[in-house]
Formats: sequence, C-alpha cells, structure tokens
Amino acid sequence: MNDSLNRHFSRRMFLGSGTAAAAAFAIAGAGAGSLIAAPAAAAAGRSVPLINPVVPQRADPWLMKHTDGKYYFTGSVPEYDRIIVRSSPTIAGLGSAGEAVVWTRPASGTMGGHIWAPELHHFDGKWHIYFAAGDSNDVFRVRIYVISTAAADPTTAKWEPPVRVFTHADTFSLDATTFEHGGTRYLLWAQSDTGVNSSLYIASMSSPSTLSSAPVRIAVPTMDWETRGFKVNEGAAVIKRNGRIFVTFSASATDANYCMGLLTADENAELLDAASWTKTPTPVFTTNEGSKQYGPGHNSFTVDEAGNDVLVYHARSYRNIVGDPLYDPNRHARVQRLHWNADGTPNFDIPVGDGELPVRLEPASASGTLLAHDGVTVTAASSPMLGASQFRLAPGYAKKNSVVIEPVLTKGRYLRVQGSTVTVATTEGSSSAFLQRGGLSDATGTSFESVDFPGSFLVLRDGALVLAKVGKNERAAATFFLRP
Ligand code: AHR
Repeated sequence: MNDSLNRHFSRRMFLGSGTAAAAAFAIAGAGAGSLIAAPAAAAAGRSVPLINPVVPQRADPWLMKHTDGKYYFTGSVPEYDRIIVRSSPTIAGLGSAGEAVVWTRPASGTMGGHIWAPELHHFDGKWHIYFAAGDSNDVFRVRIYVISTAAADPTTAKWEPPVRVFTHADTFSLDATTFEHGGTRYLLWAQSDTGVNSSLYIASMSSPSTLSSAPVRIAVPTMDWETRGFKVNEGAAVIKRNGRIFVTFSASATDANYCMGLLTADENAELLDAASWTKTPTPVFTTNEGSKQYGPGHNSFTVDEAGNDVLVYHARSYRNIVGDPLYDPNRHARVQRLHWNADGTPNFDIPVGDGELPVRLEPASASGTLLAHDGVTVTAASSPMLGASQFRLAPGYAKKNSVVIEPVLTKGRYLRVQGSTVTVATTEGSSSAFLQRGGLSDATGTSFESVDFPGSFLVLRDGALVLAKVGKNERAAATFFLRP
C-alpha cells in the first residue's frame, strides 16, 4: 500500500458513527436521478448522468439550479478575458452545452485585466454576476464588480454595465459571493490583508452593489495548510444545513497545495461578529494521490436532479505544473455527491477523480454494511471511511458490455480475481472484467459475473469478497445494492 494510501487509511479508517450515519443517509437518500455512476445508472434504468471532469478548463466553477429547473454554470476561463454562461436541464448536460459569452473585458483600461471567478446569482427579480476584474496596465489589480439583468435567460440577456462593489479599502479584492439569511443579504469576499495575500470578509448589503455594514474579517490564513506558496483564504461558498451556516473557502497557492477549509456559524448567530465563525483546524478537502486529484478547491454547492447536495469544485489530474499554476489551464470543473456526518457537518472526504461517479455497494446479505477495501482486500464494513467504500463502475474497455470495478482511492487499479481471490491490484494476467447482472436475490440489486469465469460471481463469504459459484443460500451474498 503506498504511503499516501496508508496515511489515508491510518488517519481516517472507520471514522465512527458519523460515517455510518452518512452511509445510512446515502442509502436512505438514494433516489431516482441521484448522482451515481454511468453503468450503475444504466443498470438502474436511468439516463447516464455524468463523468468527471464535467466541464474541462473552467476553474472556480459556479453551478446553480434555478427556479426554472435549469442548471446555470459559469467559471474562470484560462484566458481570464471574458464571462461565460452555460445552461442545461441536467448536470451531465453541461459538458456538451453551448457556452454564451455574456461579457468581454475592454481592450484596455479599467477592467481590461484578469477576469476572475464569476458567480451567477438570482435575487430581487434580477440576475447578477459577481466577478473580479484587473486593469489592462495592471492585470492583478483586481477589484469586485457586478453586472445585472432583469432578463429571464442569462445566456441571451442584455447585461447592464458593470458596477464596482466598493469595500473597506481600494486594494486587491476578489471572489465575492452573496447569500441571504434571516432577511438580510450578505456579501463574502477575499481581500488583501496585513501580512497575508488575502483574508475573508463579510458585510451586509443594501443593494446588489452596495455594502450596508462595516466589513468584518472572519478568516485569516495562519495555519500551515493555508500558507503554502501564498497566504490565502479565498473562494468562499455558502451552504446552510442542520441549523448552521457552513462557509467553505480555499487556501494556499493554486497548485497541488490548494485545498479547502470550513467556517461554521450557528444559524441564529450574529454573522457580522467574527466570534460567530469557527474555522476547522485542518483542511476538509485536499489533494489525493490515490484518486490522482490535485489542488481541489474554489467550490460551489448545488443539488442534483433528485435534490441531493452536490459539491462543485475544480482540480487538476496531475501534480507537477510547468510555470505559474495560475496560467495552467487544466483546473477542470468537477462534481460529486456531498455527504453529511451524523453530527450534521458536511463530509467532503476526498475528490473522487476522473471518470464515472463512484457508487457504494451494500451487500444484500449484510444490510447496513458497505464493501470497503484497505488497498488490497475487500470486506463488508459497518462504518467504513467514505473514500474506501467508493468504487467506480467503468466500462470494461477490452470486453464489450463489461465493467471494471475501480476503487476511487486506487486510480488505475481494479478489483481483480485470481482463482477465488479478489484483490485490488494491477496484476496483469488476472481478470477484472465483470458483467452487471440483475441481483440474484433481488432484481433491484446488482450481481457481478466474471467475464473470464462465466458462472462465477463476486460473493461476500465470511465477511470478505471472493469469486465463486453461488451456493443455493448465497444469492443474497452475491447481490449488491448500489448507493451514491
Ligand atoms: O482562478 C483565478 C483566481 O485564482 C480566483 O479568483 C482565485 O480564487 C484563485 O486563486
């Protein structure tokens, strides 16, 4: 087991009741249209949902589901010269959706510099896009602006000219996001601060472009994981659940050091009081060698077609970058299910990686458990760490209609069989292709028949996964329910 995998397991294995409840939530929450893997979705009779990355080369991804039922997407383009918007009836459709350029920077002068991290919001009967713009003679002299329109469709709208959003100082300010709570609209943004590149600030708003309270600093990068390369707290995003307001933010340089932290306030707290906000001591979402995801961050939140929470973020699929990371174009937009712990906090776990979204497998013979691996063997566990229980059902490539089963934590290694033994391996000469069949004990489940050993199935036997002919009392042990 490689070092990072080992660290991962030693640090996180069997988190305890939190994950069990999260698993229960996921099991209970699995519904039509949930974000599940392509073959798994097909097996479940649903349209193929999506494959990560959802939208290539769109960093700082912002995705929202509007009251018209459509998804609207925007993000930073590698050229940092324009604002684009995509719309689609489904999240999966965003990848092939047309892209409208709704605003382009002027050829020179104010706002002629870098155009960063646009966000689409709809409130007070209008669309608003918040973004940061530099100047042509100083592309990093970024300040916050907003454009608005009363049109129904932001992809075809005529937008009003940009309006500057003034904060407490005329300094480097970016990554504005807005949310409403308790009848008050707030703005959260990043701004340069003494001794650091950027801290997070909050203020109330009296209009889409005007603050109505003195800005309050609620997060400063001080910990090691926030100050690698650059001392940064930026890219705030808000989700309100379970009586709390959760604000994710991104930290450190935009290379593989980039990661996410979390601020939490009680929903009844005074949000303009810095003391109301608690920052996690460690990052909640980081680079993962196992899933080959690097620099995950600048996230947003939405819900899938079935109403389940979804985390939207960018990440690269390689660690080493030539030159300035800011000009590496491959921060791709990605999505994954957002799980929740028993204590009501979000469980971000790991960035699941390129390809189909993972599923978790609940054995019909061991209800409430989930298959999980330790990097080598697969067993049924009652409260496994999320990432260790996530498997990608990907096309079998060599063998038509077959699938390989790829643990998200071991990108490029699959469940392989040699004899009756099932292991996570890259061993050539073993078999990794399976046919997804209707569940042998329950048609709503799935059974996996070996392509190379017809008649033999994956079976949970004595708590471990093996390949075997299914005994007359083992039909449930060879049936697995797919969970998001
Ligand atoms: O992606 C451009 C800028 O780089 C974003 O505004 C910021 O979040 C990131 O650091």
